[in-house]
Amino acid sequence: MSVQVQSERLAEVMPDMLAAIHEVLERHRVTEEEWMTGLQFLTEVGRADEFVLFSDVTRTSVLIDAMSHDDDESGATASDVEGPMYTVEPPLRKKIYEEYEGMGDDDPLFVRGRVTSTTGEPLPGAVVDVWQTGPAGGYDIWDERQPEGNFRGRVKAEDDGAYEFHTMLPKPYTVPTTGPVGRYLEAVGQHPWRPAHIHLKVTAPGHRTLVTQVFFPDDPYLENDTIGAVKPALVRPVEKHDDHLTCTFDIALAPQSA
Ligand code: BEZ
Ligand code: FE
Repeated sequence: MSVQVQSERLAEVMPDMLAAIHEVLERHRVTEEEWMTGLQFLTEVGRADEFVLFSDVTRTSVLIDAMSHDDDESGATASDVEGPMYTVEPPLRKKIYEEYEGMGDDDPLFVRGRVTSTTGEPLPGAVVDVWQTGPAGGYDIWDERQPEGNFRGRVKAEDDGAYEFHTMLPKPYTVPTTGPVGRYLEAVGQHPWRPAHIHLKVTAPGHRTLVTQVFFPDDPYLENDTIGAVKPALVRPVEKHDDHLTCTFDIALAPQSA
């Protein structure tokens, strides 16, 4: 977005946003002390780099995602929020993890599918960028037992659009609770759990980038995700084989002009 368009949008949106805030402050007769406490809270959210997390747990990210993709009758795979845990350009590798102490001995999971355009054309070379929690200990960033970049990787689609990566089935986890957003969750009585999921960001030339998540059936938090990001269209079964699990997730990208 150009700087000029940004300024125009700021001038359009900000006065309305402030009017809405003023209306709420008046309705609740918010005191000087309460207002200063509110400002202090927002300052702490910024210092802790938790604004994306705050946007997520207040379901604001889900609202923006829904509005940004409400024109998606194109047959593209449903989008979902990115969350704060993405890191750019993880290594190109099929097996996206290394074993770590305390990981457990669950069976590996092979996720497979095809990346196509909504027209059905395969998209060879499409990049599927994935990130997820391990089966124990959450994201690599939170868990010092895990090597940096664990459970992150990129794979490229083959000539027929097929892709595959090797991982472990993630488990439900709690979003960070030790900072100001954790205090907010506690204060409003909202639990911090997310259902197990794998994040994907899929890019292909000439197509809209898709950011999404895959969920799994029978998860206790499917109906009750703290960021409200579960879409039934993104829940995929996991099949059990002798010594591994499989999950199929086909991905359709909308052409850029659509
Ligand atoms: C995530 O799905 O990675 C996530 C979402 C919100 C807060 C923290 C993590
Ligand atoms: Fe996540």
